[in-house]
Amino acid sequence: MRLLENNIQSYDFYIEKENMREEIVKGLSAPVKTISSKYLYDHRGSELFEMITELEEYYPTRTEMKIFNEKIQEITMAVGDVHTLIEYGSGSSNKIKALLHNFASLKEYVPIDISRDFLFQSSLELAMQFPHITIKAVCGDYTGPLTLPLEAKGKKVIFFPGSTIGNFEPVEVRNFLMKSAKLLDEGDGFLIGVDMKKDSEILEKAYDDGKGITAAFNLNLLTRMNRELGANFNEEQFEHLAYYNKEKGRIEMHLESQCDQRVNIGDHEFSFREGETIHTENSYKYSIDQFQTLAMECGFEPSKVWTDDEEKFSVHYLKK
Ligand code: AVJ
Repeated sequence: MRLLENNIQSYDFYIEKENMREEIVKGLSAPVKTISSKYLYDHRGSELFEMITELEEYYPTRTEMKIFNEKIQEITMAVGDVHTLIEYGSGSSNKIKALLHNFASLKEYVPIDISRDFLFQSSLELAMQFPHITIKAVCGDYTGPLTLPLEAKGKKVIFFPGSTIGNFEPVEVRNFLMKSAKLLDEGDGFLIGVDMKKDSEILEKAYDDGKGITAAFNLNLLTRMNRELGANFNEEQFEHLAYYNKEKGRIEMHLESQCDQRVNIGDHEFSFREGETIHTENSYKYSIDQFQTLAMECGFEPSKVWTDDEEKFSVHYLKK
């Protein structure tokens, strides 16, 4: 295997370490303890998430992939003669492979991810598989300020699959969509996967699976803080909790303290009551109308939307 391809460039903007400590200490000092879900994805967390996507109960990945496969012709038509494809949170870039084969006009692919190993490994594979496409791998946080190494010409499309948009709070989602719109010119597009509202039983099973993989994914955050921040969480004294908050239209994940306890991160001490939780993730669900309205309010024109037969998951194509 060749280790270096001439159609790959890498950009490293990721220097989150200090921010991570600061942000986590701040989140744990608040009256309702919260940690951003982006910290779930260290190397082990990304591995566990990959395992989640293969679980029987976790329908989003499989359903979205089915939509991409079954509607690929319509999607290709809607996207048109795209020159640059930017992917937010590309991870192991599984989904993009289904699309790259079909986007004949594509010249550059710009995956952005904070998980460095996964990003560079999968970029290398893609560079070999698609020698005519320039891969510009950007290691960074796409929610923060980023200057992308884009060529000025041609149609740009942002690809944001997996319903990761569900992690954003109502205010954040607006800022994010408006910021994305700013990156684009008129006629450019946004292809985005969005998980839909549905029966709470199906939702809750998807986030609390029988094999306990989602629990391990959530609890791994404690292991990560112990390792990277020198914290002293006891993983056995916390439990994974996931439920659908119908009023807010979101799945909530928490780590629930099983006893009264104190935990240290460096000089900071945090006390937990029995039953008190750390809120580690929100996963918002959208009806088609609700998401299209949101998109319109943020500078996009809803162009097309595809769903599976059971209307579990949606793929939207928005035009700037
Ligand atoms: C990657 C944010 C889309 O919310 O479904 C899966 C993350 N958390 N199981 C989701 C997740 C627990 C996932 N997203």
